[in-house]
Amino acid sequence: MVKTVIFQPAEVKQAAKLIQAGQLVAFPTETVYGLGADATNEEAVKQVYLAKGRPSDNPLIVHVSSLAMVEHFAAEIPAKAKQLMDRFWPGSLTIILRVKPGTLSKTVTGGLDTVAFRFPDCQPTLDLISQAGVPIVGPSANTSGKPSPTTANHVYHDLNNKIAGIIDNGPTRVGVESTVLDMSTSQPVILRPGAVTKQDIEGVIGSIDINHHQVKQDEVPKAPGMKYKHYAPNAQVYIVDPADDWGEVAAVIAQSKEQVGLMATDQVLHAHVWSVQADQFSLGTGVQEASAHLFEGLRDFDNQEEIHQIFCQGFEPTGLGAAYMNRLNKSAGGAHFRDLLNK
Ligand code: TXA
Ligand code: MG
Repeated sequence: MVKTVIFQPAEVKQAAKLIQAGQLVAFPTETVYGLGADATNEEAVKQVYLAKGRPSDNPLIVHVSSLAMVEHFAAEIPAKAKQLMDRFWPGSLTIILRVKPGTLSKTVTGGLDTVAFRFPDCQPTLDLISQAGVPIVGPSANTSGKPSPTTANHVYHDLNNKIAGIIDNGPTRVGVESTVLDMSTSQPVILRPGAVTKQDIEGVIGSIDINHHQVKQDEVPKAPGMKYKHYAPNAQVYIVDPADDWGEVAAVIAQSKEQVGLMATDQVLHAHVWSVQADQFSLGTGVQEASAHLFEGLRDFDNQEEIHQIFCQGFEPTGLGAAYMNRLNKSAGGAHFRDLLNK
């Protein structure tokens, strides 16, 4: 057991020393908080899997602060990948390339011959990487299976006494994890949608694919993370689709014998009369604010043991909505408000 120290962004130098010493430090990014360790230190990387309770076949993203770091660990950088880096880095696009053999341990790559690179849009973390002088692995800094952390408090809740430090840079801006784009094969494919959208990428390199495949437990998936239960709060989440009638939702909640979690935009919250059973969490005014606050809302309800059901607003799955709905679908295990009515 270690005592977890909270660092301010001005104290990044101390945090970098811990990384160099093989310790784990959680760091902010513009998407979610990551759980950092020296990517070149196999023992440190193993501790990341242990602290998160993460299955060892699920590879880690390598966070870099320079193109030189990518060049050092990638077998090659294809021209299209370079174009995307120029356009979207620093930013929420993770790019998978073939790894230069012998440069990164199997623990980082999950035994694949590829590696995911990310250049986050967050100055304290770019400073952390530069000062540590090594790339830093960073899965989301949550207990495996739980919603990703968007505040230092969320990280503390899950990993207190398991990691050496947390750099507290306040709430993250984007709120859903980066877009993961596989560029290790001839046809680039989005493995996980994020704030950098399919349209954004196609605007630079032309047509790409998106992976909609649902992975089964015994399958070896393209992005190993796809097969595990994800973003799941203790309560059952139900998606309220854009075409659903919020009046019906209000009626169902009014008949409930228990407190129920309600996650919706201010417009929805104000347009209906909600019974006292509805515990309200505002998703702000639209899909951008909703994405920034989705995980926070799910986590808030986890702290209220009496809540067993959460009704959460869905958006059209285009643009950022694709990322939002991808996360919401997983946290709901695919359950919709409609299904509840038809039972
Ligand atoms: O926004 C983010 O990407 C955050 C912040 C901290 O940077 N990180 C993050 O990491 O979400 P993680 O480990 O929670 O999710 C990374 C995803 C996983 O689904 C993993 O399976 C996939 O990327 N991945 C990593 N390396 C891969 C590879 N070589 N091939 C295919 N998928 C890979
Ligand atoms: Mg994660």
